Amino acid sequence: MTYDLQRIEGIIEAHRHRPGATLPILHDIQHEVGYIPADAIPLIASALNLSRAEIYGTITFYADFRLEPAGRHVVQVCRGEACQAKGGGRLEAHARQRLGVDFHGTTADRRVTLEPVFCLGNCGCSPSVRVADEIYGRVDEELFDEIIDQLNSGKGKH
Ligand code: FES
Repeated sequence: MTYDLQRIEGIIEAHRHRPGATLPILHDIQHEVGYIPADAIPLIASALNLSRAEIYGTITFYADFRLEPAGRHVVQVCRGEACQAKGGGRLEAHARQRLGVDFHGTTADRRVTLEPVFCLGNCGCSPSVRVADEIYGRVDEELFDEIIDQLNSGKGKH
């Protein structure tokens, strides 16, 4: 994905004098570009007088940020407690195996990125999965495969 470095510099400039500027800068860059490009890290570090390691540490601490562009579809599997109690662990293992990637990974064809999430507000129908704005409840291995098949066939809503 291409991005405009000047736009990133503008975002940094807009926030750099605020206390706690790191998070708003990262949020805005992620919103604008879809991920945090490696080139942005030294720019942020220098503007905020922090080390690159500190910026990198913040990015990797928060599950919301990614260091690479996502695939065409982001599939979030809930790892919250209610989902865990209803077979979420089995679903996670199946999702990783079916897609051939770990959490935060993107399939080789760049169609699907698998992300963990820690409650989708759908605990009564756990385990839950979200794709874009759609939340699926009581997802077992079979339903998960149907969701992925739909995405791969281009027939899904996303
Ligand atoms: S814990 Fe999974 S939806 Fe709430």
